[in-house]
Amino acid sequence: MKKEVIELLIKEAIKARDMAYAPYSKYLVGAALVVPSGNIYTGCNVENASFGLTVCAERVAVFNAISEGHRHIDAIAIYGAPIHPEYSNSIEHKNSDDNYAYPCGACRQVLSEFLPENKDMDVIVVRSLDDYRVYKLSELMPHMFLI
Ligand code: THU
Repeated sequence: MKKEVIELLIKEAIKARDMAYAPYSKYLVGAALVVPSGNIYTGCNVENASFGLTVCAERVAVFNAISEGHRHIDAIAIYGAPIHPEYSNSIEHKNSDDNYAYPCGACRQVLSEFLPENKDMDVIVVRSLDDYRVYKLSELMPHMFLI
């Protein structure tokens, strides 16, 4: 993925995070993905008083793209951070050098849905515009569930 596209996705993910509805966890996540046409789709996490109904930012972005007719994702950027860093309930994690917002297992499965027909996608986990890591989805989600 070209650096300009990566940077654009990062900016869009950071912007999308501002829309997050996360009054319970106070952990806000934004995601932005690009499809082959160049269109960008974004999502934020949407929590609910019935906690289990919460939907992650990545899945909101994927469902936005699918609902607009795109089933091929080239790359997705994810930016997550607590409203105030002191709210983070994992001190160890907060202090580690690996506290990027990696997609949860459920989102990895959803992102993988169209991989068998498509080529791999880049998953960009972001701490800032110049602090991010790029993975292939296939390395984050080996042996996805298939039927
Ligand atoms: N969350 C995401 O949006 N994406 C993930 O991959 C993991 C978790 C959200 C769900 C919930 O609103 C908050 O982060 C804390 O778990």
